[in-house]
Amino acid sequence: MTTLIVKDPVLIHLWHPVLFSNELNEQPKAIEILGEKVVVFRTSQGVYAFKDLCIHRGVPLSLGKVVNDEIICPYHGWTYNSCGTCTRIPALPEGKAIPTKAKTITYYCTEELGFIWVCLGEPDMSKPKIGELTSDRSQNNQVKMGPYELEAAGPRVIENFLDVTHLMFVHEGLLGDSQFPEISDYQVYQKDGVLISDEIDIYQPDPDGRGHGVHAKYTYKVFQPLCAGFRKSIDDSEEFFDLYLIVLPVNEKKSKAYMVMERNYALEEDENIFIQFQDLLIEQDRIIVENQKPELLPLDLQAELHLKSDRVSIAYRKFLMEVGLTFGTK
Ligand code: FES
Ligand code: CO
Repeated sequence: MTTLIVKDPVLIHLWHPVLFSNELNEQPKAIEILGEKVVVFRTSQGVYAFKDLCIHRGVPLSLGKVVNDEIICPYHGWTYNSCGTCTRIPALPEGKAIPTKAKTITYYCTEELGFIWVCLGEPDMSKPKIGELTSDRSQNNQVKMGPYELEAAGPRVIENFLDVTHLMFVHEGLLGDSQFPEISDYQVYQKDGVLISDEIDIYQPDPDGRGHGVHAKYTYKVFQPLCAGFRKSIDDSEEFFDLYLIVLPVNEKKSKAYMVMERNYALEEDENIFIQFQDLLIEQDRIIVENQKPELLPLDLQAELHLKSDRVSIAYRKFLMEVGLTFGTK
């Protein structure tokens, strides 16, 4: 069976985070990637992703269940093994062979770094970068946040994350002060396929929800079309805070944002403080990204006005243009 799916030539071959590992137990889960309905399920052998549609009468397999490492459709009990091959059709008379065409569409699926990842095409890149400290430090340093469901195009969500001059307005009193809206000049470079900005200085009244004002330096990075991060270092100290954002493109105008935070300070602090703070910041950003027009990010640099301080966004738009991203852009 072949399906002609017109999807983004870039995003189709990338790994997308679809669930936190602990969200997937014995019940199959329905997810959506690039507008495609997918069922993800777990067996004793690992995690699997199929098109979420039984080939018999089109019932979502995500309504079914996993028994003996196979997924069973709830409607007439057709059973599929982990390769997507139908192994049992209960209504078939005894001795009658299962048609060889009885197979469903399967996708690449894996579990790594506390996430379930799915690729709809042929994976041609590594997983998005999330975290530096994971291998050599205690897991306490790492805090996972989200997923945040946003009615906004993936590239809009990433660009908002990369936008330094919104901090003083959208997150006033926390990440910035509107009395000091200017930022230091900076450049953006490309190194080993990653976009990196110079350090950008900014004063922050309450940068992580603990109520201490700091002078911070931000270094932004774009790893993949829908994966970005920044390091925030605190002036005159060794302290830093890394925040990674990976966006699942649910469909062209809907996203699910996953965040991973790593820090080398306040290790004894309850991680819920950081999670609740991020939840608050996202609600402030939601009002912006869900109302921006056009909904799809314009890649033509003539389409909107830009300032020098928008250099990260400009570089991001150029990067998307270069890699040929079409989904969520115009
Ligand atoms: Fe799935 Fe009939 S629709 S078994
Ligand atoms: Co924001």
